[in-house]
Parts: sequence; structure tokens; C-alpha cells
Amino acid sequence: MRYQFYREHKYVSAALNDVERKIARTDFMNPIEIQEAYYAFQGLSEMLKAHAHYENEKLHSLLEKKHSHVHKHAEQDHAHQDEQLEEIVQLFEQVKQAGSEEEKVALGYQLYLTYRKFVADNLHHLHEEETLILPELQRLYSDAELKQVEAVTYRMMTPDQLVEMLQVLFPHMNPSDQKAFLTDIQDAQPNHFAEVWKAIGSI
Ligand SMILES: [Fe+2]
Ligand SMILES: [Fe+2]
Repeated sequence: MRYQFYREHKYVSAALNDVERKIARTDFMNPIEIQEAYYAFQGLSEMLKAHAHYENEKLHSLLEKKHSHVHKHAEQDHAHQDEQLEEIVQLFEQVKQAGSEEEKVALGYQLYLTYRKFVADNLHHLHEEETLILPELQRLYSDAELKQVEAVTYRMMTPDQLVEMLQVLFPHMNPSDQKAFLTDIQDAQPNHFAEVWKAIGSI
């Protein structure tokens, strides 16, 4: 099996759906619940922006170097994602500022529909990366070259940061995914691997 990227998409998909369920249950007449939904959305939004930035910088740049263009649409998606996230922020603002409870509930429903459409678009985006961009990277680069991309990142991370990353990701992954992450970390940071291994033993 070839070297794989995008294993963390399992976590991204779960995070998108967690926030969808939270917004679905939010009582838009209750300011505390609106604020809780907003915080959950903000946390997700930061993660999605960092994820897109990482892909543009680390993966799409590899395709640019080989004059491939299959990532152009996904890169447009990343820019569009920022616009969609901003639209949802504006809907939260409108809900908060609405004058009546009836108006809050109506706007809250619009917010839910807009957010759920965003999830649908984002799931398509993940699929495109997994089925179009990954095969192109595998066609143009060897496994050893692809493995170096994550190795550079892992070498810059402290053991605590590595453990924190694995604690977030592993509950969403199967043993094969977990083994792939652990092997990459062991190869990139052999001196710190025992520390990481010990800390994640309780996940
Ligand atoms: Fe992406
Ligand atoms: Fe992605």
C-alpha cells in the first residue's frame, strides 16, 4: 500500500458533524446556548483554516513543483471555505441581535441550514482530496519523498505537542491509521518516541 495523506479527515468529518448536531439542538431563544454553539463553531473554524493552510503549504506546493494542476479546484474550495465560515459568523451575529424570540428562532433555522450545506460541501472537498489529489501525489513522488513531508512537521513538534495531536485524532481512527501515525513519529523522532508511546498508552 502506498504512503497515505488525509487520515486526519476522519477527525475533520466527525468534528463537522459534532457541530452540526450541536447547532441542530440549540435553543435560539436562549443566549447561553447560542454562545455555546458559537464557541463550538469558532473552535471548528480555526481547525479548518489551519488544516487548509497546511494542505496549501505542504501538499499543493509539491504538485506546483511538478507542474500539476489537479489541486487548483481544492485550493479554490479553501478560499470559498473562508467565505462560508464568515457567512455563518454573520448569521450568529444576526441571531444574537434579533429583536424577538420568533425572529431568533427563524434566523437560527437559517443558520442551521447554511451550516449543514457547508458540511455537505466540505465532505465533497475531503473526498476530492482523497480521490484526486492523493493519487496524483503518489504518481509524482515516491513513498520516501511523501513521508518526508510529515517528518519535517513532526521534527518541529515537542513530545507534548505530538501526544496532544494523537489524543485528538486517535479516537476517530482504526488500528491501521494509528500504526501509520506512530511509525511516522517513531521514524521522525526516534529519541522522543518512548515518551510519546508511554503517554498515549491510556487513549
Ligand atoms: Fe482541504
Ligand atoms: Fe483536507
